Amino acid sequence: MSASIDAAFVAASFEETFGSKPDGVWSAPGRVNLIGEHTDYNEGFVLPFAIDRAAAVAIRLREDNTARLVSSYGDQEIVSVDLTSLSHQSMSGWTAYPLGVVWVMGQMGITVGGFDLYLHSTVPSGAGLSSSAAIECAVATAFNELESAGLSLNELVLVGQRAENEVVGAPTGILDQSASLLSTDGNAVFLDCRTQESKLVPLDLDAAELLILVVDTKVTHAHATGGYAARRASCELGAQVLGVQALRDVTAADLPEASGLLDEETYRRVRHIVTENQRVLDTVEVLDDAGPAAIGALLTASHASMRDDFEISCPELDLAVDTALAQGAVGARMTGGGFGGSAIALIQSADEAAVSEAIVEAFAAAGFTAPDIFAVSPAPGARRIG
Ligand code: GLA
Repeated sequence: MSASIDAAFVAASFEETFGSKPDGVWSAPGRVNLIGEHTDYNEGFVLPFAIDRAAAVAIRLREDNTARLVSSYGDQEIVSVDLTSLSHQSMSGWTAYPLGVVWVMGQMGITVGGFDLYLHSTVPSGAGLSSSAAIECAVATAFNELESAGLSLNELVLVGQRAENEVVGAPTGILDQSASLLSTDGNAVFLDCRTQESKLVPLDLDAAELLILVVDTKVTHAHATGGYAARRASCELGAQVLGVQALRDVTAADLPEASGLLDEETYRRVRHIVTENQRVLDTVEVLDDAGPAAIGALLTASHASMRDDFEISCPELDLAVDTALAQGAVGARMTGGGFGGSAIALIQSADEAAVSEAIVEAFAAAGFTAPDIFAVSPAPGARRIG
């Protein structure tokens, strides 16, 4: 599958399906989080960037209240929905993402009438690269324009998050939608998740002869169930016991005292968040002072913290990270919510083939499913492309 989105292909697919041209084509990227994991819902800091894999939607408004939706993956069957009886409790499958956005906009007083929608995406789903946020952000960007809603990028972030929380049922933060909407070419986004203030941080990998490899372990995860929600609950418990609004308000200096107040497991969850927030701040500073070649130790320390304190890694992610490091990677870590998904490795560009081969071999030797490995670079955020 080609990584970059071809607007003409999406428009042509729309026309083939629905028999007329779309009003436009909008796309929004998936993301890699360079550092700052599970800090978003703790009102802390994150540093993601958009990747050159994206979801694109071709849309044409209709005169009635019917939505017809098709995606290029799956069975390509048209799903037809009466928007007058749209309920956030009855959505399922991939259409929950676009229809969830429409429902949230409706709750905000932005009425979206009938439409035909064709979705195509090059973001692998379940790989920890925010395939769902990419769909939400493409759809939110499209209807913001088509309905002249005038929402700011930060407001669109919250639309996507609400769709994820209230419709899909995953208690996620604002990392993914912020990366998809706020990114620009060549930069990472340094985001304060308490204030939604953000700053672009140049990430010039080419100049440093570096690249970032994504290793999709093919271990899939779902954040609507299981470990993700349990980690969030632990963090909320920690904040409550420590008497703070959110773990953002706890610093490394507070940790010795916190260890006496919290049970052992909750303490380790809290320690991950506290040290991870500091690592994000340090990474931004080091990038500014010395460039990407100097951030490796921070990335690798982040992985160790997620593996040992937050316990969201898995054997496949650990093997990808360890093998990349053994091959001379500058740094490596799992990225995204965890329990599967992808790892990233910051490597010398010249080592791409050697590192990739070593990881493929290590996975085969361990009896793991073959991973998908590809390079990514910071790409533009959501926009109209056709
Ligand atoms: C998922 C969630 C994000 C964030 C990350 C972990 O991607 O959607 O909100 O919590 O996990 O950093």
